[in-house]
This record gives sequence, C-alpha cells and structure tokens, in this order.
Amino acid sequence: RFHRRNRPCRYDIDQFTPGFMSIFESLVPSDEEISKQKQLLTTLSRLINKEWPTSKLYLYGSCANSFGFSNSDIDLCLSIDDKDMSKVDIILKLADILHAGNLQNIQALTHARVPIVKLMDPITGLSCDICVNNLLAVVNTKLLRDYSQIDKRLRQLAFIVKHWAKSRRVNETYRGTLSSYAYVIMCIHFLQSRRILPCLQEMEPTYYVTVDNNICAYFDQVEKLNGFGAQRKDSLSRLLWAFFKYWAYEHNYTRDVISIRTGRIISKHMKDWTRRVGNDRHLICIEDPFETSHDLGRVVDRNTISDLRGEFERAAEILQYDPNPIVTLFEPF
Ligand code: CTP
Ligand code: MG
Repeated sequence: RFHRRNRPCRYDIDQFTPGFMSIFESLVPSDEEISKQKQLLTTLSRLINKEWPTSKLYLYGSCANSFGFSNSDIDLCLSIDDKDMSKVDIILKLADILHAGNLQNIQALTHARVPIVKLMDPITGLSCDICVNNLLAVVNTKLLRDYSQIDKRLRQLAFIVKHWAKSRRVNETYRGTLSSYAYVIMCIHFLQSRRILPCLQEMEPTYYVTVDNNICAYFDQVEKLNGFGAQRKDSLSRLLWAFFKYWAYEHNYTRDVISIRTGRIISKHMKDWTRRVGNDRHLICIEDPFETSHDLGRVVDRNTISDLRGEFERAAEILQYDPNPIVTLFEPF
C-alpha cells in the first residue's frame, strides 16, 4: 500500500475533470449500438411470443440502466407465467425456440446459480444472456436508470469507477470482488451523502410493484427532481477523489452498512450482519435496495477485502498526489 501522506495537498483537482470527461465519453455506447440492441429485443420478442403469447421479454442490467459501456453484452429477462414448467424446462425450450429462429452459439446453462440461455445474433453481431422470471433485476434496473436521470454526474462518476474497477481487476464476483451493480449502488450512496441525489425510496411512492413478496415502491417522477443537486457544484474529479477517500479512509468497515434505500448508513448490528453465516462474510456491507436481506458485498472474503481496500487507497493517493492521475488510475493491474 502507498504511504505518502506527508506530501502537500492537492488544490488543483478540478483541472482533471475534462480528462475524465473524455474517458467517460469514449466509453458511452453510440446511438447506432443502442438501436441495434432495440432491434435485437424486437426480433427475440417476436420469436418467443409466437410460442408463449403472454410472455414478455425485458432488457435489464447495463444496457438498460444507463451504466453500460459500449460493446457490452446484453442482459434479457423473460417473464413467463407457466405453472407446469420448471425454470430449467423453460430454459431448454427457449433454447429450442432460438435454434429454430436461426440464432447462433446457443448454450443453455441450466446448472448456473441463475440459469440462462446464451446466444449470438448474426444480424446485429450482438451477444446476449436470457434469464427467466428475475423480475427484481428488471425493477432495480429501472431504479438505477431513474437515479441517473436526476444528476448527470452520477453516470459520469459510475462510468469512471467501473472503468477503474475493470482495469484494476476488482470487478470480478467469481474472484471475490464486487459486481458492477454494487459499484453503481456505492456511487448513488456517495452522492446521496453529498446531497447531490435524493433518496427515492424515502419519498412518496409514485411507482409500486410487488415481486416475490418484496414490495418495491419509490418516487419515480424524476423529471420533477431535475436540478436537485445543482447547488452542490463539485466537479467530476473532485467527486471521484472524495469517493475513493471515503472508501479508503472514512468508511467504518466493522460497523457500517451503506443503504440507498434509506439514504443513510445503517449498522451491521441492526441487520445481524456482524458475523459470518455460511459463505456470507459481510466484510464490506452494501444493502440491496429491494432485497434488503441481500448484502452485495457478501462475495468478498478475507483476501479480497484487503485487495479491494488496497485499491481504494491506491486510487485515493493517485488522485491526491499523482501528476497524471488520468493515466495512472487505470494502469492495468
Ligand atoms: N443484479 C442483481 N443483483 C446482483 C447483481 C446483479 O440484481 N447481486 C442485476 C442488476 O439488475 C444488474 C444486472 O443484474 O443491473 C447486471 O449486473 P452486473 O453484471 O453487475 O452489471 P452490469 O450493469 O451488467 O455491468 P457490466 O457493464 O459490467 O456488464
Ligand atoms: Mg452485464
């Protein structure tokens, strides 16, 4: 870990915002790519509806929550109400339907934690994963997209954080680091703490659905909240610096849970997340906004928590002292 804290403080952090903005812009998907994604959704919906007329196909994840980079895979969720078929049966039949529709590289992963069908569409060249009845993911996708519409700095900050996490290899849940979804939640929480974003779930609900016994309710008329954080003028680079400083030096890892549902820090004690239960270790606690028993940090273990905290410190130090943070921050691991 870096220990260079005796050096002078940075007073010129704002000068790096244009550099970070060009990185952000280079990662945003083009309009052409977005229309290809829509085209694929239409093609697949038509094909699947022929067999299952009452089913509905939803886009979710990064291509629908506004936090997706260009050239990322597409996540789709098939909502289907068929009491006679198991999820695995549905996945297998779905694979057959896609075969008949001339889609390529079809793989049915029936034993995965979340069973999916993978495919490639030869017309658009896009690859995608289809899961079944994972409607909470569709709803949390909408929540993230709604937040991104309130203040444009959320999307910019989350893009840079995701890009940093991918470059530094701390965005790999199978290796014990955090999902992109968790990083976006961390950014939302951080901006709530700075009063740049409100807490939509604490406001009078205008959107209300129940999914698998979870009540999902929040204020979704976000166009009315435009300019909410406008009094807070922090630039992108200043926010990035403060974000990493928070996770490097200020977050209390033994006591605290971040919660965008409440817009506050809550205690591990209150959630009974103070000790390891099964494989859930709760070494960094990030509450899911709707599935509140779900800690998005549960994948992190003894080793990866120290990798992760080391990376937060490295990033905070670079933003504070490095003459060229725009390059150094993303140096491959
Ligand atoms: N998701 C979830 N719970 C998790 C992880 C993911 O509900 N613990 C859902 C969310 O709806 C999320 C989607 O799955 O938007 C995809 O998750 P992830 O792969 O982490 O994020 P992407 O936004 O697709 O990011 P990337 O650009 O890295 O593909
Ligand atoms: Mg994804």
